[in-house]
Formats: sequence, structure tokens, C-alpha cells
Amino acid sequence: MAEQESLEFGKADFVLMDTVSMPEFMANLRLRFEKGRIYTFIGEVVVSVNPYKLLNIYGRDTIEQYKGRELYERPPHLFAIADAAYKAMKRRSKDTCIVISGESGAGKTEASKYIMQYIAAITNPSQRAEIERVKNMLLKSNCVLEAFGNAKTNRNDNSSRFGKYMDINFDFKGDPIGGHINNYLLEKSRVIVQQPGERSFHSFYQLLQGGSEQMLRSLHLQKSLSSYNYIHVGAQLKSSINDAAEFKVVADAMKVIGFQPEEIQTVYKILGAILHLGNLKFVVDGDVPLLESGRLVSIIAELLSTKTDMVEKALLYRTVATGRDVIDKQHTEQEASYGRDAFAKAIYERLFCWIVSRINDIIEVKNSDTTIHGKNTVIGVLDIYGFEIFDNNSFEQFCINYCNEKLQQLFIQLVLKQEQEEYQREGIPWKHIDYFNNQIIVDLVEQQHKGIIAILDDACMNVGKVTDEMFLEALNSKLGKHGHFSSRKLCASDKILEFDRDFRIRHYAGDVVYSVVGFIDKNKDTLFQDFKRLMYNSSNPVLKNMWPEGKLSITEVTKRPLTAATLFKNSMIALVDNLASKEPYYVRCIKPNDKKSPQIFDDERCRHQVEYLGLLENVRVRRAGFAFRQTYEKFLHRYKMISEFTWPNHDLPSDKEAVKKLIKHCGFQDDVAYGKTKIFIRTPQTLFTLEELRAQMLVRIVLFLQKVWRGTLARMRYKRTKAALTIIRYYRRYKVKSYIHEVSRRFHGIKTMRDHGKHVKWPAPPRVLYRFEEALQAIFNRWRASQLIKTIPASDLPQVRAKVAAVEMLKGQRADLGLQRAWEGNYLASKPDTPQTSGTFVPVANELKRKDKYMNVLFSCHVRKVNRFSKVEDRAIFVTDRHLYKMDPTKQYKVMKTIPLYNLTGLSVSNGKDQLVVFHTKDNKDLIVCLFSKQPTHESRIGELVGVLVNHFKSEKRHLQVNVTNPVQCSLHGKKCTVSVETRLNQPQPDFTKNRSGFILSVPGN
Ligand SMILES: Nc1ncnc2c1ncn2[C@@H]1O[C@H](COP(=O)(O)OP(=O)(O)OP(=O)(O)O)[C@@H](O)[C@H]1O
Ligand SMILES: [Mg+2]
Repeated sequence: MAEQESLEFGKADFVLMDTVSMPEFMANLRLRFEKGRIYTFIGEVVVSVNPYKLLNIYGRDTIEQYKGRELYERPPHLFAIADAAYKAMKRRSKDTCIVISGESGAGKTEASKYIMQYIAAITNPSQRAEIERVKNMLLKSNCVLEAFGNAKTNRNDNSSRFGKYMDINFDFKGDPIGGHINNYLLEKSRVIVQQPGERSFHSFYQLLQGGSEQMLRSLHLQKSLSSYNYIHVGAQLKSSINDAAEFKVVADAMKVIGFQPEEIQTVYKILGAILHLGNLKFVVDGDVPLLESGRLVSIIAELLSTKTDMVEKALLYRTVATGRDVIDKQHTEQEASYGRDAFAKAIYERLFCWIVSRINDIIEVKNSDTTIHGKNTVIGVLDIYGFEIFDNNSFEQFCINYCNEKLQQLFIQLVLKQEQEEYQREGIPWKHIDYFNNQIIVDLVEQQHKGIIAILDDACMNVGKVTDEMFLEALNSKLGKHGHFSSRKLCASDKILEFDRDFRIRHYAGDVVYSVVGFIDKNKDTLFQDFKRLMYNSSNPVLKNMWPEGKLSITEVTKRPLTAATLFKNSMIALVDNLASKEPYYVRCIKPNDKKSPQIFDDERCRHQVEYLGLLENVRVRRAGFAFRQTYEKFLHRYKMISEFTWPNHDLPSDKEAVKKLIKHCGFQDDVAYGKTKIFIRTPQTLFTLEELRAQMLVRIVLFLQKVWRGTLARMRYKRTKAALTIIRYYRRYKVKSYIHEVSRRFHGIKTMRDHGKHVKWPAPPRVLYRFEEALQAIFNRWRASQLIKTIPASDLPQVRAKVAAVEMLKGQRADLGLQRAWEGNYLASKPDTPQTSGTFVPVANELKRKDKYMNVLFSCHVRKVNRFSKVEDRAIFVTDRHLYKMDPTKQYKVMKTIPLYNLTGLSVSNGKDQLVVFHTKDNKDLIVCLFSKQPTHESRIGELVGVLVNHFKSEKRHLQVNVTNPVQCSLHGKKCTVSVETRLNQPQPDFTKNRSGFILSVPGN
């Protein structure tokens, strides 16, 4: 139970009383009221006492305290029950309803508003605009409904004069997505007459007090309330109501809800027309009634957008169909007055129903598709007029009190009777508790053929003049023996009851004396068809819409409509069926005194209410009973995760056994009873603990599910990746294979091709084979080279190698490498170059071979040299595989200088066509020469010289540096100088001249 409140505030739950007795109940209720604790639990029922003062217990902080909490975690409050209903709806997808009952002024309407505010406050955490809009509409609709449906009575300054049942629809996330309002029997007689001390509906006063001068003028109204017959009774009443301010609030609310400006205008016009109707008087001219004021009629016609003469005719005549003929029958004055009042009541009632239906149009659930949005659940809130006893109780009080009997019966059914029957059914030991079952009174009113409503309908159906007295007579004769019915005729000594006027019903909530006056008329609820047609023909579309049946022609209207009482009865039966199909939560409201005082706790009045609300019986049943029950199957479904014996599935013979095991495992076995199909849990704490354990486990289960799901996802991803890799592998293999196939196809028979496949176009390789293709092409090239080389005679091979070496060294750096001709090498020994002297050279060469032991001659040639003294002389060079000799041809090729090849460090040549070559030596004594040839002259031999030398060095695994520049750098005995080559037109043959930085080799231009 609510541990937060200390005992100085009394007991938070009546179940905790030491003894269940009326004095103790009353003492606790009074103590709590005096300490400002207006709410007390009886289990899950909230008992509320009207504080008649503003309490600071509905704010944001309080809402936060109750949000998501279990009922018993917090002190009793409307919010606790609202949250319980919301949770049940959300957790179990159950439709729930909150039934608020109590007599007039007990605080039902206020309670319903706080409940709505709470639900609005705790929903839509993500602040979706659409949901905010719906919530705003639901909240705002209250004030409009109250303006038109509430009135000041002697019991309550803001008494609901209609019944209201509002469904709030929720989506699967628990956010409100719309709603629907059902309204029940508006007490429309209040439009034309009120009891002393009471007022008509607030809307009239609000319009006159709050409407602007201009608006009132356009409606032909004046501010003074006492000018209007229909409302002048309550005109002078003092109350806390601020009509002018309310007018603005209501006008704003209508706008926000979505009423169109012309609709709002029509609402005011209707109110104005009703006020004017009330002032219409009939004067009698002989037998014929006439309208006293033509001006009023034309104002009414104007406000209702119809014609004056038609209004006049509807008021004074009645169209009657006799067989085929249609005649206009003149009213008597009484009939005319009756017609006027009936008309006024009817248009107000239509207006009210139209307002409700407009609100419904706007708040109804739109675009909800259960396949997308999940199940749509509702919480219903019932705020209906409370049981009431006036000095003069008429047909309306009869209906209202009957409605309260029905609701009490529902409460008995659901809370008391059903509970006890269930214990019996389930075989749970049970001590029967007596309570007063009001079914007998419900039957008295509604039973077919025998009930009061049936008798009233019978009376109304009689042809000819039926009076209220005749109805009373019928009641007397048919219900004379009923224990809850009496009248003066049945009990002559009962002086309170007037002969031929009163009857008394002993309601569950007390005795009420009803006056039969007006019962017949109100039940028949006759409104002459002429008025309906009048309104249907209005040029104002809003008005016309309110009266669809006005389009029927007079001859068509034959069927007798259901009477008011039967309509009401049917709507009550439907309401009760609807409530019974939902999980109910109760708020039982108590009115502490009749003076609207926050101080007075009228013991007598309160005790009476506690008695008739059956609260003491409620406590007894509750104490003897169990707070919670559930079928084993459902119980297991919800809590099986708590115990290892039941999670995820049990292996016991039945769910009952499994539940027993689970309960024992948690140690609750002393707080439960096992029925045939259900488990019963005595205290809410047990249930609360179970819920907590479940909540703890849920986190782990969710984590477990997440883990498994993540694992599944990862495995799926892994498999997909693996499959992709396999596909890639196969695809790659396929690409490689098809490449290889293609290559082998294209190069097929390559050996027999004349060019050994040089012309074959290589296919484009797949990316992975780029390097492979390079290698393959290299292999191919080598193979082709080898094929080519094979065709070269062995004697030519040195020459080929030298040419290759020359190409490698000089390609792109020098023109004309002399590759086209045969490289003879030893030019000094060949005739063309030395026609006279070769005979002298050959013995010198042989002598050198013997002496220096060379194997091969690499090169020999005549040259022109320049030395460091700028002396230019014609010489010859002779290069063997061991030495470079400089010879003087004029002295029989006497060796002038011998340079061992291992002293040779490099060669420099120019990038032109000239035959300049500089031999660099280790000792920096470079040899600068220009090659000469005789036959043909100016044959290019530089390529050959470089080629054979480089090739030779390579064969000895040594490197020979070859520079290609112009000018050529050289070093003569360590002194740096350059030789630049210049082309001269008139130069007969190459020659060296000196210049500043060294030498110029001038060569003939061509
Ligand atoms: N919780 C509350 N806090 C403060 N005042 C309250 C509370 N409940 C009711 N009242 C006061 O009591 C008055 C009557 O309450 P309410 O209109 O809710 O009664 P009701 O049960 O709906 O009566 P009826 O059956 O006549 O419609 C309110 O106008 C308000 O002044
Ligand atoms: Mg109310």
C-alpha cells in the first residue's frame, strides 16, 4: 500500500481499516478530508471527496510522481488510476474505461478533466505535432461542451446536464490518435424553464455578457438578462461564474477545434433566435391565436435564414395529412405556446448534438490502418450526470436517476457479484458478503411490458387525450405491489405525496418523489413536422444540415418515433454493454456538504453516499478477496522469465503446476490461492514484486535477444561475404583462364610464323594479370630474340653484341650509329682505309700481339688528335682487348702511346654526327681524337667504337662510362678543358682549333 503517507493522514486504503465498520470508515474519510487528503483507495477503486477548493496536487511534479508507477507505489490519486488504466491498455492491449460516479456536484466532471490532462501529459514523449493537435482538441472540446451542456443548478454551479462518454483512441505506442464523444440525453427542458435558484445553459449568459456590442446588435439582442423570458429566472443569481470571460474562452476553443467562422456565427444566431422565441406571445382573437409582435417574428426569421411568413405559419398552424388531403390546421393558443417551446428546446438540442458531432468529425481517428499502426486501443472516460433529488423532480430526474441505477448495477456486476461468483467458480474458499443488489430497481424502471418506461410508453401510445394522471393511475395499478414503488393512492397516510401527481421510487441512493406532470409530453417529445420543414428550408447550410428529416413530405411521415424514455433506455443499455466489454476502473465521488464549503464534512450526507455507493461492501469484498487474478496460461506468459523452472518453457504436467513452482521459487506461496483455472494473489505488493522481477529480467532477455540477433546478423554477413569471395574467385579464375586461352589461341602456330608472332595483337589482360602479361611479353620477346639470333652466323655474333651494346648506350642520344653496315673493326688492316700502309700496319699489330699478348683486335682507325699543346696531328688508334695504342702512321705505325684498357675510365662523344671521341684515363691524361675514314669518307664509326668497347668491358664485368655531350669535358694532365663541335660550311675536313676554354672541332657542314 501507499507507504509514503504517514498515519496522521489516516489510512490510504480502506482495506487497511482495523475493523470494517461504518463508524471507522467515516472517521477515516473525515480525517483524510480534513487533512486535505481527498483521495483514498479501496483496492483499485478511488474514493474522492470534493474539496471545494483549489488544491495544488495536479501539477507537473505530481504527474511525474505517478508516471509509470504501480498503483500502490504512490499515495491515492486520480493520476494513479489513470496511469493504471493507461498501463493496462498499453501493456496488455486491453480497452479500458474509467467510470466516474457520484451525485450531482460530487466532482465527476472535474475528475474527468484531471484524468484527461494526466493522459495528455504522459503521452507523446517524442512531441509529434499530430498527436499534440489531437490532445489539444480533446482538452479544448471540454470547455465547449460545458458551455452548451452545463448549467447552474441548486446543487452545482457547473452541473453537467448531459451524459458524456469519451473514448480516447491510442496507437500501438500508446499515443492518443483521436477520440469519440457519445452524449446522452440533454436536459433540454431547461431551455424554457428553470427551477428557482437555477439557470439555463451557460451559453446564453455567456453570449449576452461576453458578446460585443456589435455582435449583439446584429443578433438584435441586448445585454440585460432579465429581458428574456427563457432565462430571466436565473438572471439575478450571484455566483462565481464569469460569463463574459468564459465567452471568449469558448469562442477561442471553437476556433482552435476547427469550427468555421460561419459555423460559429450560426451557433450565436441559434442562441439569439431561442431567446427571441421565448419572448414571443400569442394574443387571442376570439378563438384564433395571433402573434403579438410581428417584429420578433421577422428577427427570428432573419436569424434562422428563413422567411417571416413561414415562421409565422409554423407557429400558428399545423399541416395535417388526412388521407390524400393535406390541410392547415389552426393551433389553439395552448398548442401554439407548446409548439413554440418545443421548437426552442428542439433547436437547442439539435445545436448541442451538432456541436458534439462536429467535434467528433475533428477528433476522430484518421488514417489508421491496423496492419501498419497495430491494434488501436481505447480508454473510455464516463462522466455522466449524478444521482439527484430536487424539490420538484420530473421526467429528466427520472432518467438521470435511472442512469445512475444502471451504473451502480454495472459496478455491482463487475466488482461485487462477479468477484464472488468467480471465487465460487474457481473453488476458492469464500465467505459470502451481503450487499444490496439494485437490479430490482433497474427492473422496476426498464423491464419490458411491466416497467415504468413500458407503462409510460403505453400511455403515450393511447389514442385520444392522455393525461399525466392517467399514466399515474396505470403505474398504481401495475406496480402497486412493488417494494420500491409507492404513491399516495397506494399509501394514503404518506402525506408527502400529492394525490394524482406524485409517485416515489426507492432508489439505491435514496427515495425520490417524482411529479408526473409533463411526463407524457416529455416522453412523446412532439415537435410539429412544420418546424422541421421550416428549418430544412433555411438558406443557412449549417442550420439546414441539422434538420435532415425536414425534407420528408408531410404524407411520408407516418411512423411513430421512439419515445424519449425508450431512446434513453436503449442508449443506457448500449452504454453499459460497452463499458462491460472493457476493463473498468472506478472513481467514486462524494459530496461532503450541500453548501459548496471546503470546511464542512456533513457526516449524515456523507454516510448516506457511502452507504448507497456500497463502499463498505466494496471494502469487505476486497479484504476477503484477492487483489489480482489471472489464468495460469496468461500468468505464465507474463512471468515465466522470472524462474528457471518456467523459462523458456516448463516441463511440468500443467501450467498450474508450473505457476505453483514459479510462485514457490519466489517465496510467495502464502499470499496466493490456486483456483481451477486461475491464480489468485492476495496483496498487490506481491504482484508489484513480480512486475519488478519481470522488468529486471526483461532487460536481460532483451540483451540476450539482441546478442542472438546480432550473432545471426554477423553470421549472415559472413556467409554473404564468403559467397561473394567464392564468386570473385571463380570469376577471376574464369577471366584468367579465358585470357590464357585467348593468348594461346592467338599465338597458336607461332613457331611457323615468319615474324614469330610479332604482328599478333596481345589480348587485354584482366587486371590481376598485368604483371603476368609484362612477364609473358618479356618471355615472348626473349624467345623471339632467341629465334632471331639462331639465324645469325656465329662469326657475326660479336658484331651483333657490339651493336646491341652501342644501341643500349647511345640510342636516342646520337644520330647514325652506323648499324646498317658491317662493323669491320680493324680498319687499319683493311685496304680501303689504308691502301698503301696496311702492309706496314699488319706486322706492327702482329708484333704487338706477340709482345702484349692480346687475343682480339677490337678496333683500329686513323684519327686526327689534338694534344695539350694544341698540336694537331694525324695518327691512328689501335684497340685490342688489352690496350689502346696511339700510333703514328707516318712512321710505320710506330706506337706513340700505350694505354692499358684497365686504365681507361670512360669515353665522351658529342651528340652530333661528328667523329669526336675523348678517351678518359685514370691518370687524367685524356686522349682527344676525331676518327677518320677514307673509304667512304666520313663514315660514322663512333657507334662501333662505343659498341665494341662497352661490349668488351661488359664481358669483363666492368663498367665503361660513356658521356654524350657537347661540348665534351676533358682533362689534359689534370687541366680541365672542353671540346666543342661546330659545323662550318667551308670546312674541307674536321680539324681542331684552340679557343679559350679548350678546343673547337670544326666539321664540314653539308
Ligand atoms: N478536485 C477538485 N478540486 C477543486 N474543486 C473541485 C474538485 N472537484 C470538484 N470541485 C468543485 O466542485 C464543483 C462541482 O464539481 P463537478 O462539476 O465536477 O461535479 P459533477 O459531479 O460533475 O456534478 P454534476 O453531476 O452536476 O455534473 C466544481 O465546479 C468545483 O468547484
Ligand atoms: Mg458534471
